[in-house]
Amino acid sequence: MSDSTAATSPSAAVAGHPEFVELHQQNPEAVRAELIAGLLASAAFTSPKYLYDALGSRLFEAITELPEYYPTRTEAAIFRAYAADMAALQPAAATLVDLGAGNCAKAAGLFEAFAPARYVAVDISVAFLRQALGSLQAQHLGLPMVGVGMDFSSAFALPPQAGGGPRVLFYPGSSIGNFTPEAALLFLQQLRSACEGGGLLIGVDLCKPRALLEPAYDDALGVTAAFNRNLLMHLNALIGSNFKLADWQHVAFFNEADSRIEMHLQALRAVTVSWTGGERHFAKDERIHTENSYKWRQADFAKLLLSAGFAQTRAWTDERGWFAVFWAAA
Ligand code: AVJ
Repeated sequence: MSDSTAATSPSAAVAGHPEFVELHQQNPEAVRAELIAGLLASAAFTSPKYLYDALGSRLFEAITELPEYYPTRTEAAIFRAYAADMAALQPAAATLVDLGAGNCAKAAGLFEAFAPARYVAVDISVAFLRQALGSLQAQHLGLPMVGVGMDFSSAFALPPQAGGGPRVLFYPGSSIGNFTPEAALLFLQQLRSACEGGGLLIGVDLCKPRALLEPAYDDALGVTAAFNRNLLMHLNALIGSNFKLADWQHVAFFNEADSRIEMHLQALRAVTVSWTGGERHFAKDERIHTENSYKWRQADFAKLLLSAGFAQTRAWTDERGWFAVFWAAA
């Protein structure tokens, strides 16, 4: 975070008005350099965070409603069934810190059971978060809310506006699945240092047969394909490239050896893509790797949390054992 700047809205976090903090971690030139380096790599890749421009965030919301995409509703059922058990393990009057808050709906569903003293919503998609938090605040006038626009995928540290006191870090949805196991350990260590006296509530998608996994990432309606292909539109906006949607196909499959779903964009024909100052030729069927979504064994993830420095863990799962929510006490 070399050139991080913080801009704070003039109002303090008074009830009824969410305070907003925007941390710019990367300037447009750094984003550009990172993206171009990935596109020029022999096996081209982009970070999954670029899937979430304004439209991408809305397409992801649509994904969560698809019949094939089981994680969101399975996790929601676990929260509904066990919210009281989860609440009992948490410190009183904690700050609930929502990591990758999106539309804030998951956390909002827990306000009643958890009775947080403050709600801090963090997301990379600032405009989307601003809208979501604004309408949520109107429904919970007594709960101080802070919005933080930041990318925590490479380094995690909360700004002072997040406030003191015990923290419950909330990282649902199996977003941890985007990290390799090695990177997940480093990230969880950073989370551990940010919640002394509190803990982490984290959703994790579990290993299951390919026949259940693959349709969740390649749905019949084509929404996940649109979500993945929209990345090309976002790239065009970010680096001035000339990707044409018609040239690219969504590909998703379970890589069993690495226990992860991989998403790629595959060239339907030979294409040369150019941007200001450069270009890349893609052969027919050549791919850009756009996302990994790791699937964990429950016991392995519990071990990972302990390796990251958490003191003890509890886990709740659905009847089919498809998804787990862990509480890790700091
Ligand atoms: C937001 C990373 C949890 O991996 O299931 C959904 C993203 N990508 N469909 C996931 C995603 C394609 C999602 N996470």
